[in-house]
Amino acid sequence: MRQKLDGIDRIDTVPPMLLALAGLKGGTGRTTLAVALAAEARARGRRTLLVDLDPRGDAHAWSLGAGSLAPTTLRLPGVAPGQAERLRGLAYGHDLTVIDTPTDPDALALVAEVAELMLVPCRPSPMDAWAAVDTVETCVCARSLANFRMQVAVVPNAVDPRTTIGAALPNDLRALGLPVLACSVARRVAHPEAMAHGSTASLDAPAGPAARDINELLEAIEALRTRYSDSHQLRH
Ligand SMILES: Nc1ncnc2c1ncn2[C@@H]1O[C@H](COP(=O)(O)OP(=O)(O)OP(=O)(O)O)[C@@H](O)[C@H]1O
Ligand SMILES: [Mg+2]
Repeated sequence: MRQKLDGIDRIDTVPPMLLALAGLKGGTGRTTLAVALAAEARARGRRTLLVDLDPRGDAHAWSLGAGSLAPTTLRLPGVAPGQAERLRGLAYGHDLTVIDTPTDPDALALVAEVAELMLVPCRPSPMDAWAAVDTVETCVCARSLANFRMQVAVVPNAVDPRTTIGAALPNDLRALGLPVLACSVARRVAHPEAMAHGSTASLDAPAGPAARDINELLEAIEALRTRYSDSHQLRH
């Protein structure tokens, strides 16, 4: 990104990032987090692209309701020949490309081929945790075969820290050998309420608790990107 600092034009050296919200189980919060992260990145002045790979088109539908508040959003449903190259090409010229994916192993394989970061939301339930294990294994396999730059991370989502299962989720996921981000996204009605009127919790209440979670998540993602650019050491 070009910035004007002290009257001098500077090019931000942070490399572009292709981020996929992925998983082998439905309803984990991929679309909610994809939209929230893309909208927050755009609000921070990042050149942001939101790509909806899900044939259901939920992220795209949100963007139509959000109008000028939405980042540029493209609907590219399904896995088609040349899709990986298309995604790489689209990411070029954006600081952050966020891909929302369906619950489809072929779509997971596609994004695992191109993404720099695979983010796997996981709700507090055993079924979500088991699916996260399978998803991370698929990503690690794709990394060893073709996409050596990829990082994969699980983000606890829709967590109620007052419950036993919610409070224990990050450690339970780590005990399964999963790479878990230090931040979590709490279960808050502000997320679906905001999406229902074409907004996000962060845009509606930038100082609210739901916005704080999304800010922390975006910062954790950007820290991973910086780590990559500094070291090119991409193992969890
Ligand atoms: N942090 C959260 N707090 C409250 N509700 C949430 C949160 N994350 C997701 N939800 C809700 O959980 C449901 C599933 O979320 P979402 O549609 O984002 O998941 P998904 O993984 O994209 O699902 P799908 O498999 O349908 O694509 C939605 O009703 C959404 O509003
Ligand atoms: Mg979805």
